[in-house]
Amino acid sequence: MMKELSMKNILTGLFTSALCFGLSMASYPDSLNVASRSSGLQGCRATTTSVRFRTLTMRGPKSMVTYRRLSITASDLVSLTIASQNIAASDVAQCARLSALANMTAFAFDGTCTTYQFNRKLCSCLGGEKVIYVANSSISYGPPATVPFSTAPYINTTVRNLEVKEYQLVNFFSDVFSQVLEPFYTDDVRALQYLYVFPGEDGGFNALDKVYLDVASCVTDVPCGVPIFVTTIWPTYYILNECGKTIQIPTLNSGERISVFSHPGFGCKTFPDGPTYNCNVTFTTATTLGIGYYGYFSGIDGSCDGYTLGAEKILSGTSENVNLCTDKWGKHFDSVTITLRGTAAAKTFKAGFFFYMSVYD
Ligand SMILES: *[C@@H]1O[C@H](CO)[C@@H](O)[C@H](O)[C@H]1NC(C)=O
Ligand SMILES: *[C@@H]1O[C@H](CO)[C@@H](O)[C@H](O)[C@H]1NC(C)=O
Ligand SMILES: *[C@@H]1O[C@H](CO)[C@@H](O)[C@H](O)[C@H]1NC(C)=O
Ligand SMILES: *[C@@H]1O[C@H](CO)[C@@H](O)[C@H](O)[C@H]1NC(C)=O
Repeated sequence: MMKELSMKNILTGLFTSALCFGLSMASYPDSLNVASRSSGLQGCRATTTSVRFRTLTMRGPKSMVTYRRLSITASDLVSLTIASQNIAASDVAQCARLSALANMTAFAFDGTCTTYQFNRKLCSCLGGEKVIYVANSSISYGPPATVPFSTAPYINTTVRNLEVKEYQLVNFFSDVFSQVLEPFYTDDVRALQYLYVFPGEDGGFNALDKVYLDVASCVTDVPCGVPIFVTTIWPTYYILNECGKTIQIPTLNSGERISVFSHPGFGCKTFPDGPTYNCNVTFTTATTLGIGYYGYFSGIDGSCDGYTLGAEKILSGTSENVNLCTDKWGKHFDSVTITLRGTAAAKTFKAGFFFYMSVYD
């Protein structure tokens, strides 16, 4: 089910957010700068208007508001709007100027000039058929904030006739994990036990083994994330949250798995190169389990950027130590202690690492 990954297959600095999907490129300027205050009695200077490549700049005598063009669905627009007002205007530039003078957050012009105030900042990559202009100060350019999985909104939908829940991810390291994404063709519901599904090109779907993404820590309640289709999530532990602990793994049935991620947000948030870590976590089991390690944690030289990452596994009373920065590893075990020590030397991009544990068969 899971592709073998080489430990040397290290990706530093290579990640993108897949946030910007399908914005329609209508024939509207990308941004508008307009004077936000009327010129008053002193404002006898002529107002100049210049049109540049995809930018319309209106020079006024006082401070400026920059509006940026966003697209949005009609329903998202309704849910964001706390006030709106129609203003008589003959073109988009006049609509922008009057909107700024009226201290409105956003406007749309489709022959009619409608201005809006919103209940929160908008993310920069929405998507939809309606074009609006939003004051730059009311746009949030970073990824959206995560919310707890239990409160994240979802919609019930289907993928290849299978019932799934569609959530929005804040981000996904699509460049890092592109090699483990596979086309999703099946309509066998058992596949969804192991896979998350993403929309692909031309109405198709791609699938990702669940161990590559900590979905529970990567969902948002704003409609501008990366869509993902989810059924269930494996029980999950995070190394950085469990330092010094011994965790007894519950008895697993065949086909069940435990995910152990380096940190909350594996797959959507970089590993937090913060303090000096001195962390060990021991997992014990009632019955021998299989374990696999996958690292997106080291540089091309095989070192972990100053960290020491290792594991000591015990099987039938015999212990074995492994350096996870240099060695590929997958074994069965009765008890395993994972150790992360040290501090990042160069703070290179690290997606993190994970282990998965399952019945060994
Ligand atoms: C414009 O709106 C902002 C925030 O909505 C408010 O802080 C400011 O006082 C308003 N300015 C005017 C002139 O109404
Ligand atoms: C828009 O806002 C962003 C973030 O607040 C800022 O970096 C950028 O310079 C602004 N652009 C303009 C044209 O004001
Ligand atoms: C999704 O479907 C489940 C089962 O049919 C139902 O319990 C749940 O309320 C639905 N949720 C939404 C958001 O529609
Ligand atoms: C694990 O960490 C705890 C607390 O930091 C420490 O007391 C213990 O000796 C460590 N165990 C190993 C095997 O490193």
